Amino acid sequence: MEQIEQARKALTERFAELDVKSNILKAKELRELYGEIPKLPVEQRSAFGQAVNVLKNELETMVAAAEAAVESDSLSPVDVTAPFDINATRPKLLPTEQGTTHPLTQEIERVVEIFGRMGFVAEESREIDDQYHMFESLNFPKGHPARDDYDTFMTTQADTDGDPYVAPAHTSTMQNRILKKYYANLENDEAIAVVVPDRVFRNEDLDARHEHTFYQVEGVYVAKGVHAGMLVATLQKFLEEYYDRKLKVRVNPFYFPFTEPSFEFALECPFCESGCSVCSQSKWIELLGCGMIHPNVLKAAGIDPNVYTGFAFGCGIDRLVMMKHNIEDIRHFESAKLDFLRQF
Ligand code: DAH
Repeated sequence: MEQIEQARKALTERFAELDVKSNILKAKELRELYGEIPKLPVEQRSAFGQAVNVLKNELETMVAAAEAAVESDSLSPVDVTAPFDINATRPKLLPTEQGTTHPLTQEIERVVEIFGRMGFVAEESREIDDQYHMFESLNFPKGHPARDDYDTFMTTQADTDGDPYVAPAHTSTMQNRILKKYYANLENDEAIAVVVPDRVFRNEDLDARHEHTFYQVEGVYVAKGVHAGMLVATLQKFLEEYYDRKLKVRVNPFYFPFTEPSFEFALECPFCESGCSVCSQSKWIELLGCGMIHPNVLKAAGIDPNVYTGFAFGCGIDRLVMMKHNIEDIRHFESAKLDFLRQF
């Protein structure tokens, strides 16, 4: 047994100096102790053998502890809850407390603020609707060819009329609801004056000017004696506020099922005098659709078209903002690219 104690002392001392700690388990002293066992008288072998095993276990524990310590010294701790691989370069995230509003949100707030000063209240649209609101209530009966112009995403699930639900392709989908919701205004001799800035969706081929998801602002104004001059003046005033300068505007005849007459509304290019890339050298920018609300649309909302008239318009917000900030590709808006977003 004394032999074992001596070996323990020698091996413990040597252990501290070993580079490869596990070599201690191959030490000569340990081998010799095992070699002693068969030479001992039979009755001593068991006790001696167990004592050698105890020493070997001690050494193994020391080796394991030393190896674990080496590993934890050389590797930095891993935070398994981190949202990205900590060995990778850290993404340049905006700290949450310094995040910015999306450029479209900033501009939507500005649009709502300008119309707000003109007496319009704002309502939201929706991301799923039925075909009654998207088409029928807007004077596109079933089978109307103009329905095809809207590249509408449809669900596989059908509504109570048996038609698939749609992802609204225009904010006009809210007209019928707005006219009904604010009907009481008319009875109180007040106008219905509502804007709906919200998302719309179209199944289109994507390019620098076409995105499947974009924003429109719808405007609806109904009262007694409303005429097209008021429509033109309202839009002109809005655009002059938005671009912060006096602007000439132009209306050309157009066709929408839900307005009669319908117009395509253009503004003088706010960025040049004699033609530039924004206006494709034409000095005019075709911006939006508008018109006098069709009597059938008023009737569908329970409003008597012989008493009340109104105007409506629908304007692409992305386009407004692209022109304002000279953004060349509409797809930047939904790209979530921080390099793009940080500019605003
Ligand atoms: N909904 C039309 C579109 O997306 C735009 C539009 C045109 C809206 C005329 C209107 C309107 O309210 O009167 O193409």
